[in-house]
Formats: sequence, structure tokens, C-alpha cells
Amino acid sequence: MNDATFRIIPTDPEGLVNAAALLRSGGLVSFPTETVYGLGADARDDTAVARIFEAKGRPSFNPLIVHLASLEDAEKLCVFNDASRVLATAFWPGALTLVLPLRPDAGISKLVTAGLDTLAVRLPDHPVAQGLLRAFEGPIAAPSANPSGRISPTTATHVVDGLKLKINGLIDGGPCQVGLESTIVSCVDRPSLLRAGGISAEALEACLGAPLTRGADPETPSAPGQLASHYAPLGTVRLNAIEAKKDEFLLGFGPVEAVLNLSPSGDLTEAAARLFECLHQLDAMGAAKIAVSPVPDHGLGRAINDRLRRAAAPR
Ligand code: TXA
Ligand code: MG
Repeated sequence: MNDATFRIIPTDPEGLVNAAALLRSGGLVSFPTETVYGLGADARDDTAVARIFEAKGRPSFNPLIVHLASLEDAEKLCVFNDASRVLATAFWPGALTLVLPLRPDAGISKLVTAGLDTLAVRLPDHPVAQGLLRAFEGPIAAPSANPSGRISPTTATHVVDGLKLKINGLIDGGPCQVGLESTIVSCVDRPSLLRAGGISAEALEACLGAPLTRGADPETPSAPGQLASHYAPLGTVRLNAIEAKKDEFLLGFGPVEAVLNLSPSGDLTEAAARLFECLHQLDAMGAAKIAVSPVPDHGLGRAINDRLRRAAAPR
């Protein structure tokens, strides 16, 4: 779905069924949660997820939070340990996001995880979000529904002002109660606070009976830096390559002859959708030297180039 004919969708059962159908056809639907409005897409659909980044004008691919209807659904996608199960049982549905090891067969788009082997999941505590998740019967990837660099939206009007021209629908559920994004805790290792948010660290620590370790805040520039090594393919990366040298694998863009091509037609949305998948494929091929065609540095191209520069950075 490429045409972004925008409509306001009512919160009644018929509205939620229509919103779920929009998501199923690859559309973007903003919906209320108790924290802030999310910009939702089918988390299994690379192209739909790429459109999230396009709509937000995000200059880099930050991994996204996946919203689910039940703990059971979360267990199908991620591996829980004792601590994460304790936190999920105590605080879900609610303003807590857990970062957990991703099951390899989860079927989540690599653009959602930015190619990481972990996944951020949460069950929102809002009847409209829950109704949408039940109608959709699948995982919904949703960052906050604001243009990149702007303030998170806590009313439908905020979303209309920021994103109306870029999205397919908005379910107006009134103002958000919490108004602050969810608290993010990684339970990949010892429970670690990645982002302060709607649930206090003290409340989480009281529940765990132990202090949280303090990880890097994912909103600060240091975190993407730390993540850079996860992002990188095994081979070295040379950017802006007009053609590949003899020992290089060319990752193409546009009408070039290449081992793999991000988008033969030069479509940046398609390229974004395929980026992480292509880098994984190059790893699987054992590509020791990767050359990448120039990618135009506008729109989603900025996020693609940000990602590629990280991949090419000296390690
Ligand atoms: O309250 C919320 O969390 C809202 C509503 C819509 O649910 N969503 C939200 O999403 O704030 P967003 O994209 O604005 O923030 C998601 C944060 C980013 O800072 C990202 O780096 C982090 O979650 N994140 C997502 N997946 C991660 C992962 N696998 N590891 C570490 N951090 C992750
Ligand atoms: Mg945000």
C-alpha cells in the first residue's frame, strides 16, 4: 500500500476491524496506547516497516517496539527468563517494554530489530490498542507517532499535525493517560534499565527484589555506537562503489549488475526494507569484502546511509 489517503478511524469494533485490515494490507495506522500514540505497521512486513521510518523521516534505523495482545504471544517471539517473567506478570499490560532474545523463527522483519538478535516487546494497557491487536491477530511494530526529532504525541491532534500526510489511518482514542513512553528494561542478561519511562525504576526493583543495572540510554548517541558492532556484517564494507573489485561482493542499488541488489529500480523504500536481510545474506555467503553502490542521501536514503556508514566504520 503506497497511497497514504488518510482517514480517522472510530474506536468501535467495526473501526478496529477496518484498521486491522489496513495493517494487513501493509498500511500505517496510528493508535493510542496508555503511554503515547504509536505509529503501527505489521511487524512481519519489511515494506510496511520501512514505511514507518519513511513517515517519521528517521535519519537512522533505531529498532522498534513490537506490541502484542498477550504474554503467550510474546513467549512465541522471545525467550523469557525468570526475571522477565516476573516483570511481565507484574506490569503487563502496562508501560514496560522488555528487550529479550528473539526466537530465530519468530518471523519478525529484520528492520524491526535493526538486524539485532533481540526484540523489544510490550503489551499496552489501553482498550483501543488491545482491541486493535486482537482484531489484527499479529505483532504490531510501533514507534511513537511523531516525526523524527519532535515530541512524542499524546493526543490524536498531535499525530494529525505531524504525520497526517504520511499515514493511512488514525484511531482517535482521546488523550494518553501516561503521556510518557514506556520504561525499557533489557532482560537478555541481568535486568538492565535502558530507558526511564512510565513505570519507575524503583517499582521494578521492588518487584525484582534487586537493583537494575543501568545500561546505556537507547535515546543517546552512545547506544547506537554500542550497537554498531551488532549491526556490522562479518565482511569489510566499502561505500559509494561504482563497481566491485575482483574480490568484492557488490551490494547494488539501482540498475547495476550485483550479487544482491537493494532495489534494482532505485526505490528507497524497497532498499530500506531489504537492507538488513541483504547484509545477513552476504554473511551467509561468506562475503569477506563488500562493496556498496551509492545510495542517494535523501528521504529513507539518509537512514540507509547512516546504517551503511556504521557497517563500514573501522572496528
Ligand atoms: O511507550 C512506548 O514505548 C511507545 C509506545 C508507542 O509503545 N513507543 C516508543 O517507541 O516509544 P520508540 O521507537 O519511540 O522508542 C523505542 C526505543 C528506542 O529507543 C529503541 O532504541 C529501543 O526502544 N529499542 C527497541 N528495540 C530494542 C532492542 N532490541 N534493544 C535495545 N533497544 C531497543
Ligand atoms: Mg520515540
